[in-house]
Amino acid sequence: MSKEEQLKKLENELAEDISLPLRESNLVFGEGDINCDVLFIGEAPGQKEDELRRPFVGRAGKLLDKLIEAIGWKRENVYITNIVKRRPPMNRDPLPEEIEAYKPYLTRQIDVIHPKVIATLGRFSMNYFIPTAKITRDQGKIFRIGDGKLLVPLFHPAAGLRSPEMLKKLTESFYKLPLIVKKHSELIEKERAHEEVIESTQQEKLL
Ligand code: URA
Repeated sequence: MSKEEQLKKLENELAEDISLPLRESNLVFGEGDINCDVLFIGEAPGQKEDELRRPFVGRAGKLLDKLIEAIGWKRENVYITNIVKRRPPMNRDPLPEEIEAYKPYLTRQIDVIHPKVIATLGRFSMNYFIPTAKITRDQGKIFRIGDGKLLVPLFHPAAGLRSPEMLKKLTESFYKLPLIVKKHSELIEKERAHEEVIESTQQEKLL
């Protein structure tokens, strides 16, 4: 099955899974280039995303678009999704059981897309991969996760809209992404050279 077919199948399964929470909201599966180097993962859709069934299309999404363009990329050349695929009521934070319920789908989505770099947006998405990480301490750092992927935690663009200081840090971290993609193999090799045994649940800070 092609990548496209696998993702379509996954989306259909998600749509039909009546055991999932938040089914009163629309499914926002994700969009972009399925052969991307970088996969952006946010927290959960908001009102606009629910309406349009597309990720990051509200105010935070506009900022995300700007940042992507600022580093010379296009939104169509990355893939964007969320850990939770439906909007929590009143935009509240996703609950641990909601994150857990959508986990098998996100895991498969990541496996199919197989990006070099995962850029998480906000602390929920970061802690999904690295439960012990702290957003203010670790944003912009590079971690190796599992099977040769690098993970870069970023502030959520909504935080960038609220605080100029966070926007500055988010922008600075964004500017590091092209080099991280370029140096992906080297960064992975660097870890191998240390002969570290890295389990999929363990992460190593690289820079
Ligand atoms: N915030 C998120 O985390 N995801 C979206 O898709 C939109 C806003």
